[in-house]
Amino acid sequence: MLETKEKNSGKTQFASKLGFVMAAAGSAVGLGNIWSFPTFAASNGGGAFLFCYLLFVFLLGYPMLVAEITIGRHGQKDPSTALMKTTNNLILKKLAHFTGLSSVLVAFFILSFYAIIAGWFIAFAIEPFTTLLGLTDVSLWLTSFENSLSRDVVFSLIFLVLTFLIVQGGVEDGIEKWSKKLMPLLFGLLLALTVYLMFLPGATEGLHYYLVPEVEKIFDKKVLLEALGQSFFSLSLGAGVMMVYGAYLNDKESVPKLAVQVAALDTLVAFLAGLLILPAIFVAKEKGVEVFDAAGTLIDSDRLVFSVLPKLFQTMGGFSFLIAPLFYLLMTVAALTSSISMLEAPVSFLPNHTKLNRGQSIRLVTFATFLVSLVLIFNFSSLFNLVMKLVTQYAQPLTSLAVALFVGFVWKKTKLLKEIAAENENFEESFFWKTWPWYLMFVCPPLVLIVMVNSF
Ligand code: TRP
Repeated sequence: MLETKEKNSGKTQFASKLGFVMAAAGSAVGLGNIWSFPTFAASNGGGAFLFCYLLFVFLLGYPMLVAEITIGRHGQKDPSTALMKTTNNLILKKLAHFTGLSSVLVAFFILSFYAIIAGWFIAFAIEPFTTLLGLTDVSLWLTSFENSLSRDVVFSLIFLVLTFLIVQGGVEDGIEKWSKKLMPLLFGLLLALTVYLMFLPGATEGLHYYLVPEVEKIFDKKVLLEALGQSFFSLSLGAGVMMVYGAYLNDKESVPKLAVQVAALDTLVAFLAGLLILPAIFVAKEKGVEVFDAAGTLIDSDRLVFSVLPKLFQTMGGFSFLIAPLFYLLMTVAALTSSISMLEAPVSFLPNHTKLNRGQSIRLVTFATFLVSLVLIFNFSSLFNLVMKLVTQYAQPLTSLAVALFVGFVWKKTKLLKEIAAENENFEESFFWKTWPWYLMFVCPPLVLIVMVNSF
């Protein structure tokens, strides 16, 4: 981890608050912000989706993020062990173990489809160079979504190998130093592209669609469920990841404050990406790209970004050779800082619960992930969206909910208060800590369940 230091116990910790925020925000900011958020927003009424998403981040995502980080910091190990440490009751310990296991499985399945999408970004980053060299066939292979099996296999493998090398080499130091430099660059590029886009025909229509919600769509059950799933996905919740990162956090830091920073950064990047991609869709439509079918539904939503962005880059003339690869490259880096957190979750779990050591665990998990990615690639039309939906819209919120229930109901109140008191001497007066456990027990579970049951 970034700038770690050994404590007396020998456990490495983040040397600075910034280290934790960078790692956790690095996990949160990824393809979810720039690929799935705008896509969901575009297919769910724009403004209505944005509204529900922001609401869920605030009402559910943030309190759950605090729960995961606090449990992780208290447990100081993998998600299962950390959850088991909240109770002495044998049955509850079993449940805790199961919840931890399901969270690392969630991370595992997410990585298997994440690698495919990230692979597309790598391929698109290379394409401008093959086009420059006149290798038309290669360019077509890199960017076409027809018969793209071989491309998908090759690039998801490349992405997984990169993730593997970073986690295995323990060079998180390196990637985090890079991401510290590159993430602000991505942010700046998003901003610059958005400003540029505003001058193109069609942009204001998109802006209006994104920022002005249609009230009746807000109560649409599909909009609500997809906004719920997206808010959990974007904050990397329910997958053990934030518990793993919380374990590196020093007792003295205030979890609620750090969690605000992580959630705010993540939400800001998603908002900004929407500000770019939604108007870009309308600009592309103006240029004759078919994005909506006759019924007004998005065509091929999973590749929307890849049909809309190249059109935008094309309007830049010679600059596109510079901007396009830079954008896709920065996206790849953002995806890597997320994927290392996904791999880290099952990898932290295995050595504590099986005979495997860390090195073997990293190899096994990467290999198994690739096998699942292959299954998804070869059954793309039937499985890809299904797996993504099941994992992000059901498994993730439910696992996260189980974690919230452990914090609220199971974690012995005195212990919980001690954990909290460690960082905050005036905790008893603090409104947040007084209300938060109750909120986790009595507000979060019904809210998640209502959205879910309502969606059937
Ligand atoms: N939050 C990341 C994104 O928006 C993806 C991610 C990283 C994730 N780790 C996760 C999603 C764990 C769910 C669970 O791209």
